[in-house]
Amino acid sequence: MARLTGKVALVTGASSGIGAALAREFARQGAAVALLARRADRIEALAAELTAAGGRALAIPCDVTSDGDLERATAAAVAEFGRLDIVVANAGFGVAGRFADLALDDYRRQFETNVFGVLRTASATLAELSRTGGTLAIVGSVAGYLSAPGSSPYAMSKAAVRAFAVALRGELAPRGVAVVLVTPGFVDSEIRRVDNRGVLHPGAREPVPAWLRMPAATAARKIAGAIVRRRRELVVTAHGKVAVLLARHTPGFLAWLVARARVSRPEPGRTPRPGAPPT
Ligand SMILES: NC(=O)c1ccc[n+]([C@@H]2O[C@H](COP(=O)([O-])OP(=O)(O)OC[C@H]3O[C@@H](n4cnc5c(N)ncnc54)[C@H](OP(=O)(O)O)[C@@H]3O)[C@@H](O)[C@H]2O)c1
Repeated sequence: MARLTGKVALVTGASSGIGAALAREFARQGAAVALLARRADRIEALAAELTAAGGRALAIPCDVTSDGDLERATAAAVAEFGRLDIVVANAGFGVAGRFADLALDDYRRQFETNVFGVLRTASATLAELSRTGGTLAIVGSVAGYLSAPGSSPYAMSKAAVRAFAVALRGELAPRGVAVVLVTPGFVDSEIRRVDNRGVLHPGAREPVPAWLRMPAATAARKIAGAIVRRRRELVVTAHGKVAVLLARHTPGFLAWLVARARVSRPEPGRTPRPGAPPT
């Protein structure tokens, strides 16, 4: 289906998981895609794959925590493809642990990527999106609605981008720019193998059972559909929809449920602590 022929999409965090799957989906639908992430080898390989399949793709190494990177990346994408119609602020990771065991720097590190990274992405691309009447998609999480013990840095960061998306939607509507909030539940990716410092442990155990995880390609198809239709919000996964419903209507019951879900993630040099898996 070539619904996006002639359109240009920029995706942060395109080297893995949801971002890589979304880039493939946009390319499949005919869009040119700017692939942003820190791991240049990964995005270059993905650009080569998409180009070999007849698409147009450009790998742009970029760190969303670095001031100026998003401006440079946006300029490079526009120089290559001439415009920007869709921007997905997707790059993120999870800091887990109990408040008593964490330092303020753990929270700062989390916010620098998951919150300020989103703000940098929105800020750098706003002029181009205003010019094209485009769509900004912000990837939040079900964790933005429920804050499980052991997940406060991540849940806070996702609640913050949810609030940002709602306010920004009203601010950008007069310019013709749509803001789509994407709220995933558990999706197949590397996120639960990345530690509190953002380091990937490829051999680490995935704590969420396979039956509960949606394949990234399936999530990407749904997310791309919501972006094309300029929906206000898409909650991805059935369990995610139930969790958001419970958070809205029976928050006490949901808190009781999630307090019982305890898993651990790898942290080099430290004993794994109880913490909720990033969703
Ligand atoms: N998978 C889930 O179950 C789930 C559920 C809810 C929400 N989410 C959200 O979905 C988004 C994508 O996560 P994912 O699950 O696909 O995880 P993932 O497979 O670990 O991918 C994360 C992506 O973010 C990029 N990234 C991280 N820090 C970055 C930085 N400083 N600058 C640039 N890129 C950076 C990574 O690229 P580099 O390391 O190459 O830079 C990678 O491409 C995140 O915002 C996450 O919170 C995921």
